[in-house]
Amino acid sequence: MSSKPHIPLDELRAQVASCHACPLAEGRTQTVFGDGNPNARVLFVGEAPGKNEDLQGVPFVGKAGQNLNTLLEIAGLQREDVFIANVLKCRPPGNRDPRPEEIEVCTPFLREQTRTIDPEFIVTLGNFATKFILKTDMGITRLHGTLQKAGRFKVFPIYHPAAAIYDHSKWEALENDFATLGRLLKE
Ligand code: URA
Repeated sequence: MSSKPHIPLDELRAQVASCHACPLAEGRTQTVFGDGNPNARVLFVGEAPGKNEDLQGVPFVGKAGQNLNTLLEIAGLQREDVFIANVLKCRPPGNRDPRPEEIEVCTPFLREQTRTIDPEFIVTLGNFATKFILKTDMGITRLHGTLQKAGRFKVFPIYHPAAAIYDHSKWEALENDFATLGRLLKE
């Protein structure tokens, strides 16, 4: 185990707010650090802020966020119980996919958030979070709803809640996986 001290979340938040390590800084209204219980048992990791998140500075407040709130209830969770963060802290223009170089320069922040919060579970929402946390090329279609491990963390990949906005058949899988998460949290 590393003896490196954990960086307090407020300090990390300030580091993120002043970051200009990649060109996404130029297009942002503000950074979206993450939100929730600093002692959470469950850390949710999404992809990147969208338009509403960029405007409000809070993750998952748009349509995907409404979906996430509904799904959290299925797992017996409230937003105040969990911590919600993203792979990227700044909005990519037009909500395009994160680029490898953006992921590379931004994810040290996510890594430090994870060390400081020290959750039992990391729930990865969608392909980008799943591939980064599990260091895998395997897609979310195969991994969702299966319990994995990354170091000392239990990792539970789930489809991104926005997936159901465009493809309603994903909603049933999301509901099932959040129900499974609720059971895992009771074990
Ligand atoms: N989608 C994400 O991945 N993260 C957000 O914060 C909002 C939408």
